[in-house]
Amino acid sequence: MSRIAYVNGRYVPHKVAQVHIEDRGMQFSDAAYEVIAVLGGRLVDRTLHHDRLERSLSELAIDRPMRRTALDAIFDEVVRRNRVSEGIIYLQVGRGASPRNHAFPVGARPSVVVTARRAAPASAAALTEGVKVVTMPDLRWLRRDIKSVSLLPNVLAKQTAVEAGAFEAWQVDADGYVTEGAQSNAWIVESDGTIVTRPESNAILSGITRRRLIEVARAEGLSVVERAFTPTQAAAAREAFLTSTSSFVVPVVQIDEAVVANGRPGAITEQLRSLYIDFARADVAAA
Ligand code: PDD
Repeated sequence: MSRIAYVNGRYVPHKVAQVHIEDRGMQFSDAAYEVIAVLGGRLVDRTLHHDRLERSLSELAIDRPMRRTALDAIFDEVVRRNRVSEGIIYLQVGRGASPRNHAFPVGARPSVVVTARRAAPASAAALTEGVKVVTMPDLRWLRRDIKSVSLLPNVLAKQTAVEAGAFEAWQVDADGYVTEGAQSNAWIVESDGTIVTRPESNAILSGITRRRLIEVARAEGLSVVERAFTPTQAAAAREAFLTSTSSFVVPVVQIDEAVVANGRPGAITEQLRSLYIDFARADVAAA
């Protein structure tokens, strides 16, 4: 089956889908994006993704290209045309195409690209064995709360991880605290069972999975504290894990050379993963 993409008003074969050579997303990373999980052919946490997209666009002063209902219709159509039951949607909204000039163009129309692909949320091995992360300095700009396509430091971080045989890179700020992964949020569980993740600020992306997981964990009576932690604290933790739309909840069992606890995925991490999946199933069933 050939894949179909949505590009600026048209559904086109993925193989030949194109944007203009002077698209500002390409020349300046002048665009925001979202990645949304698809479960049972439906989008998980659609409203929160709309909210975050609109916030990113507003912070970048990019016009909203269309209403939520119109964007929803495109999401559903792309999922349907690609027959995605389990996978992800990628949406990119840019300031548009215009002759190269740093300042905002006058009259350019925002560009919109939507793709969908099948994917399992993390491999079975990552879940049963847990994964390794490596730490490295956070090289990014100071507005990491905006989900912009300006991802070069994230790309370099992820490549460092891959070359070290790791699943993810945990980036560390100038004060020695973990900010987040290249494409995920970072968490630990302390010896008394307290779940710890860095508070929302300009230093991290406000992950939707992160926000939802805090909610479902607290509803289950688990204690969650929003506080920054260092790689040393993480290495000494009872459990560690990461969260993202594309992987949900993944146990971390090694941080650089340090093995976390007994090197096996932790019980609270497993509980959180199953709570999150229950939430996601209920969310798509209610949609
Ligand atoms: N990444 N932090 C960063 C830097 C991210 O890129 C992501 C998401 C997250 C987790 O956010 P959420 O739970 O909303 O997916 C945190 C997406 C999946 C990506 O770029 O592939």
